[in-house]
Amino acid sequence: MNLGSHETTTPDQTLRLGCTLGKSLRGGDVLAITGDLGTGKTHFVKGIAQGLGIAPSQITSPTFTLVHEHEGRIPLYHIDLYRLEDIREVESIGLEEYFSCDSVVAIEWAERAASLLPTTRLDITFSHQGDDRRQIVIAPSTGRAQPDTKTTI
Ligand SMILES: Nc1ncnc2c1ncn2[C@@H]1O[C@H](COP(=O)(O)OP(=O)(O)OP(=O)(O)O)[C@@H](O)[C@H]1O
Ligand SMILES: [Mg+2]
Repeated sequence: MNLGSHETTTPDQTLRLGCTLGKSLRGGDVLAITGDLGTGKTHFVKGIAQGLGIAPSQITSPTFTLVHEHEGRIPLYHIDLYRLEDIREVESIGLEEYFSCDSVVAIEWAERAASLLPTTRLDITFSHQGDDRRQIVIAPSTGRAQPDTKTTI
C-alpha cells in the first residue's frame, strides 16, 4: 500500500494514485479523507473506484444523498459529508453499518463525523501546494480522528 506523503501535479495523477491504493484495498478498509475544497478528494475516490473495478465516471461530487454504493471487486460506499449540517443526520443513516468486512468505505469531509469513525482506518489528507500541486498524505490511524473544532457538531 502506498503509505506516506505524495505530491501530484495533475488531476489524472491524483486519480492514478487512488487507483494504486484501490487495487490493494480489502473488505473492511475505511478511508477517512480530509482536505480543503477542491484539493482532489473526489478525483482520488474516482481512482479508488477504478482500482476496485468500478468506472470512475460513476463517482460524483456531493448531492443530497450522503451515501453512494457501487458494485466492484468489493462494494464501495462513497460517503461525502460536505453538506452535512447536523451530526444526527449521519447517526440516522447508521454509518456503523457500512463499516463491515464486506465493503470498502471512502468518506470525504470525514472530520465532520470524527466521533463516529472506526479507530482503525486510513487517514488521507489533501492540501493545496500552489497551482495544480497537491500533497496527499496516507497514514494508518489507530486513534480517534482529530475533530475540526469549526466543523464538528
Ligand atoms: N493535482 C491535482 N489533483 C487533483 N485535482 C486537481 C489537481 N490539480 C488541479 N486539480 C483540479 O482541482 C479540482 C479537484 O476537484 P475534486 O472535486 O476532486 O476536489 P474535492 O477535494 O473533492 O472537492 P470538494 O471539497 O468540493 O469535495 C478539479 O477541478 C481538478 O481539475
Ligand atoms: Mg469532493
